[in-house]
Amino acid sequence: MQTLVLIKPDGVLRLKIGDIISRFENKGIRIAGLKMISVSKEMAERHYAVHKGKPFYESLIKYIMSGPVVAMVLDGKDVIDITRKLVGATNGAKAEPGTIRGDFSSSIDFNLIHASDSIDSANYEIPIFFKESEIINYERVDKSWL
Ligand code: CMP
Repeated sequence: MQTLVLIKPDGVLRLKIGDIISRFENKGIRIAGLKMISVSKEMAERHYAVHKGKPFYESLIKYIMSGPVVAMVLDGKDVIDITRKLVGATNGAKAEPGTIRGDFSSSIDFNLIHASDSIDSANYEIPIFFKESEIINYERVDKSWL
């Protein structure tokens, strides 16, 4: 199972890339794809198509294009649920301490990170950011220890 994670411009500009990635690695999640990108209007609109028409849509599109984004494909059993738990509630002000948003954000707009919310979302979102050749299959060395 795979999921898409984006460290949004606030996470990159606040130098939280390492802190965020370490949460996933410490949990034992394998990073299968990783790159820093500038999100184009077309990518932003495809990625956030589900929010089109909502009051925050225009600012959301503008924001995700406003600075660098780190895009990741995470891979593992139950990775979508595990990742969503690590990320925390959408609104950083309400996210539990111990989660990424709970520890680093107190805003709904600047909530540092996006993670796919279902298998269907992951299957839709991953190809927006990654070609198949950019997703690498390798074995974790410590797999048998878990
Ligand atoms: P994200 O996981 O990137 O998906 C959509 C984003 O819209 C969300 O994180 C928030 O940053 C932003 N957003 C702003 N207002 C809302 C809202 N009322 N409900 C959901 N998402 C919102």
